[in-house]
Amino acid sequence: MNGDLDARVLRDVFGLFATGVTVVTGRKASGEPVGVTANSFSSVSLAPPLVLWCLQRESTSLDAFAVGRAFAVHVLRLEQEHEAMHFARRAAGKFPQQAFAAPGAPPLVEGALCRLDCAVEAQHPGGDHTIIVGRVTRLASGAGEPLVFQGGVFGRFAPLPRARHVEAWETFSGDWF
Ligand SMILES: Cc1cc2nc3c(=O)[nH]c(=O)nc-3n(C[C@H](O)[C@H](O)[C@H](O)COP(=O)(O)O)c2cc1C
Repeated sequence: MNGDLDARVLRDVFGLFATGVTVVTGRKASGEPVGVTANSFSSVSLAPPLVLWCLQRESTSLDAFAVGRAFAVHVLRLEQEHEAMHFARRAAGKFPQQAFAAPGAPPLVEGALCRLDCAVEAQHPGGDHTIIVGRVTRLASGAGEPLVFQGGVFGRFAPLPRARHVEAWETFSGDWF
């Protein structure tokens, strides 16, 4: 590999990493609701409870995610491909008119696997993206299967035949298997 990274190849290689799919919602200072499909979401820290996601700097929604503002991450269920594509459009008015009615609270995407209510803790520069770090203030979760994104297509998660539960936040000594 040389220093001249081809943008298409870079996209394809980044896309090999399988992720879940989220819709992040918030409100501009005017109260206008915004929602963005994002697969850059990641958990960061348990104590304090922090998450991050990355937003394109050219996003029309950027000012809804200024430091201190409330936002909500909705982890999509398998059946929510339609919502994923709806919020991936560059357009105003992704929410119905009623969503303007509840000032302050980030709009709800119904039927998600979980919702994490957050406050923007920090913004960091990340090239053509802005890294948004949020402190989790409230959680709500339901049941269901997650929507997965890999190689530019949506799919489902299939556990291995003898999959064991692994606690990723704990440190183990000894052998895993
Ligand atoms: C599966 C998927 C994942 C995406 N992940 C991100 C992301 O992590 N960050 C981002 O800025 N845009 C991401 N996008 C694109 C945005 O959803 C889209 O550009 C955005 O909704 C544009 O609207 P806006 O200008 O109102 O922000 C993703 C799109 C798809 C389909």
